[in-house]
Amino acid sequence: MKQFKRTTVTSALPYANGPVHIGHLAGVYVPADIYVRYLRLKGEEVIFIGGSDEHGVPITIKARNEGVTPQDVVDRYHGIIKQSFKDFGISFDVYSRTTSKIHHEMASDMFKTIEAKGGFVEQTSEQYYDEEARQFLADRYITGKCPHCGNERAYGDQCEACGTSLSPTDLLNPKSTISGSTPVLRETKHWYLPLDRHEAWLRRWILEDHREWKTNVYGQCKSWLDMGLQPRAVSRDLDWGIPVPVAGGEGKVLYVWFDAPIGYVSNTKEICDAHPEKYGNWEKWWKDEDSRIVHFIGKDNIVFHCIVFPAMLKAEGSFVLPDNVPANEFLNLEGDKISTSRNWAVWLHEYLIDFPGKQDVLRYALTANAPETKDNDFTWRDFQARNNSELVAIYGNFVNRALTLTHKYFDGKTPALGALTRYDKDTLEQISGFKFQVSSLLDSFHFRDALRETINLARVGNKYLADTEPWKLAKTDMERVSTIMYISLQIAANLAIAFEPFLPFSSQKLRSMLNITEFSWADLGRTDLLKEGNQLANPELLFEKIEDEAIEAQIQKLLDTKKANEAANRKSNPVKENVAFDDFMKMDIRVGTVLDCQKAPKADKLLQFRIADGLEERTILSGIAQHYPNPQELIGTQVCFIANFEPRKLRGMMSEGMILSAEDADGKLVLIQPKAKVADGSEVK
Ligand code: MF3
Ligand code: ZN
Repeated sequence: MKQFKRTTVTSALPYANGPVHIGHLAGVYVPADIYVRYLRLKGEEVIFIGGSDEHGVPITIKARNEGVTPQDVVDRYHGIIKQSFKDFGISFDVYSRTTSKIHHEMASDMFKTIEAKGGFVEQTSEQYYDEEARQFLADRYITGKCPHCGNERAYGDQCEACGTSLSPTDLLNPKSTISGSTPVLRETKHWYLPLDRHEAWLRRWILEDHREWKTNVYGQCKSWLDMGLQPRAVSRDLDWGIPVPVAGGEGKVLYVWFDAPIGYVSNTKEICDAHPEKYGNWEKWWKDEDSRIVHFIGKDNIVFHCIVFPAMLKAEGSFVLPDNVPANEFLNLEGDKISTSRNWAVWLHEYLIDFPGKQDVLRYALTANAPETKDNDFTWRDFQARNNSELVAIYGNFVNRALTLTHKYFDGKTPALGALTRYDKDTLEQISGFKFQVSSLLDSFHFRDALRETINLARVGNKYLADTEPWKLAKTDMERVSTIMYISLQIAANLAIAFEPFLPFSSQKLRSMLNITEFSWADLGRTDLLKEGNQLANPELLFEKIEDEAIEAQIQKLLDTKKANEAANRKSNPVKENVAFDDFMKMDIRVGTVLDCQKAPKADKLLQFRIADGLEERTILSGIAQHYPNPQELIGTQVCFIANFEPRKLRGMMSEGMILSAEDADGKLVLIQPKAKVADGSEVK
């Protein structure tokens, strides 16, 4: 493997349109911070880059909704986000923003260089234009009916009800969300990065030269590459962003995904220019073959970091490419997808109000449960258990016993090491062997396993004390007690170093209790870290038990959120006008058995049912295909349908009735089915 001189670590720049939550921390910032702290402890040359991503359409939408400027929005959230990261000990060398002057210049220069080298193609296309607001409309500014599932509020880029990606011209009955008018198509010119031209080298570089990338990352790249790459527009008709800096670019800005990753470079430049004595020239971090670039991101960012950004860098010509992109999957919260708009999240700034001083507990729970290979779930019960039965009962308990006993028997001074038993030797060997294991796990981005090994070292210490029972020997064999405490304190000192990347706050506290000032990863595994006679400070608890009430309060908070969401839903979907009993009686709802069910030909969203209705068979078409990807599974089950619904033609086929489904808040449709089997043709009353 290639030896590098230094490492440039970046973590995805969060959008400055909301605060950060546990999903961000678990997926990107905690793993990046663990890695960087580990490299620093090893004495390696490393720089850790962060910052806010302050352009893009969602920020303009938020500003518009609040009646403020986009700049107001990003100023507010940049401050909140930066503070949260600081509070949680995310040890960036720089945390800047993409609205900075340095960044605007850097991104413009990059665009100009690529343009001058002929690295873009210009293409004219038709885009929706709002004649009342006199502007082109970003995809998100257009809503209409989804052609797949019929959801009336689909966006120009995606239908959130059925998940289909759309382009604005797919929408039926499109409307501008700015003026409410119907937009018209107009020609506009944009710059495209011709990814197709880059496909061959990207295939080699990723699929052959980087087989060591995480399987989730490698797999996603492979499927993108196998589908074939298309040119991607890197400019937009928008007034928030970095102006397109070449002729013909008036009124247009760089696409946010073009400028944002350049933010890594600009932020590096910002800190290097400010502290050249410490960091040197920014270019060495990005252009020197001896620099190793590692991007920490979430899985939704893979294509941009593994394909688009490398293609940009290649087109520019003077940069090195990332060496690894250890992307994580997603973290869910109590079984549900984290969602800013539904307020389904644990916000970092709120966590700290409810659990002051407990940053490390969250860092621990999130790492122990990190979504490294698959999506994972955060639950408050797990959080409590991680704290009470691991941090308190194992790590905290061991450290506390080691220190308290040393104070009790040796006035708080590290005692002497005497004769060793077989068990002592085994224990010391475990300490030495531990380093190699943890290091190789950290080197390969297996942070949760590395954490497990580390807490296991505390387990070794705990067991050692429990087995040797120095408190029983104190009356008879102080020399033996001396050796036991010496060994225990060495374990505690090793823990203080090994936990530093994961739990920096408690490590710091432990080091000051142990009176360790100088330390490095190289010291790990040593069994003479604390010298005989070294004075320990008074022990304080590293962790405290978290009571049920605190956890129940958090669970209640989430239940309240759920309720509020449901209430809001009812409000946006109020009950219709009353109907008279006689009117209701006109409707004939019945139960029937599904004899056959398949996708209707040439109609993506329709399922074609054959229903036994008690008398004969009938065909009913239902627009639920997106929700039942395996329609044959419905065969043999019973459904409810309106039996006297006027037959009508859908896509050239007759539908004799209507099948009943319930619609979820997000537009998901679920069939209404009787709980127990009834005779076909039974009436629903
Ligand atoms: N803001 C993006 C997101 O939250 C991430 C940008 S990463 C960068 O998904 F590379 F573009 F900076
Ligand atoms: Zn849809």
